[in-house]
Amino acid sequence: MQTAVGASVELIARHQHTGGAYPASPTYPVYGYCWLRDGSFIAEAMSRAGRTESADAFHGWCARVITARAGHVAELVEAARRGEEIDPRRMLPTRYTLDGGDGDEPWWDYQLDGYGTWLWALVEHARRHDVDLAPYRDAVETTVDYLATFGADACYDWWEEHAEHRHVSTLGSVAAGLAAVLSTDLLADRKAAEEMLARLRELIAGPGTVDGSLVKWLGSSAVDGSLLACLTPFGLVTPEIAEGTYQRVRTELRRTGVYRYLGDTFYGGGEWLILTAWLGWYEARTGRTELARERLAWVAAQATAEGWLPEQVSGDTQDPAYIAEWTAKWGPVATPLLWSHALHIILALELDS
Ligand code: BGC
Repeated sequence: MQTAVGASVELIARHQHTGGAYPASPTYPVYGYCWLRDGSFIAEAMSRAGRTESADAFHGWCARVITARAGHVAELVEAARRGEEIDPRRMLPTRYTLDGGDGDEPWWDYQLDGYGTWLWALVEHARRHDVDLAPYRDAVETTVDYLATFGADACYDWWEEHAEHRHVSTLGSVAAGLAAVLSTDLLADRKAAEEMLARLRELIAGPGTVDGSLVKWLGSSAVDGSLLACLTPFGLVTPEIAEGTYQRVRTELRRTGVYRYLGDTFYGGGEWLILTAWLGWYEARTGRTELARERLAWVAAQATAEGWLPEQVSGDTQDPAYIAEWTAKWGPVATPLLWSHALHIILALELDS
């Protein structure tokens, strides 16, 4: 394994909590929590890198966190069945304290994608390393009940914005999770998961696709960097739609690195390392090896002297006036961001193989 990638693996391992949780960033004021979205992709990177004990510990942590809330999920599902309108504040949190608590700082709950991504990453890891999924059955069933009930609803997106919309990358993450579980024999009752998966596929291929490309949310015609996950690794769209989405992200959202979306103002809306690596991941899978290598080199070149990869870089932001506002609120851009290190590992390994 290349040295830089080995350093990313070690950095993640060093910051993993003894109970298995990965903090989003150990240094940034509001990122000392574990997000299922970030964490699942971090576990995927560690699993690919052969650090099975790290991925096992994360998945075990997720299973405990979710199983501890099984009664609450059952109540939510029952309330939905009765046709009650559910206050979004009752839904499962987006992020947890490292010891598995809900935390008491307000956040942009509620977000569904992380629960789908967790299922996807768990099944990928189990298949790759021949892990027995039986001990995960209860947590998986609870997660599936939750997603089969609410998986097509509006909620905050990957960027924790626009709770009023149904975001295509969120629908894709939920679909990927349900599809992964349905590819195993874990579920006693598959019907609800199959129905929700079919519905999500219809939404993604229907209103989620405009002029040959996935769009940011149902009803929008804009593109978003998070849509890349629906191409690689989730594989949810036809090669034509994948290509159309890739071309839009590449032409509309890329400077050297990739923006989240046009009009982003978080630290001015700079270039995100995870998304640049994600573009490279798709390029590596579609035979554009040279381009993928350029993305990897660019990601690696953003490391600080300590070898830490930031969340985004601000050299070519969309609106630099916002940098000072966010810096005054929470300090400099989150560095290191474990999710950036994870995508660095994934792209490097993808290019190695
Ligand atoms: C991003 C989320 C991410 C969180 C923790 C936020 O700024 O929008 O996608 O999960 O940071 O890394």
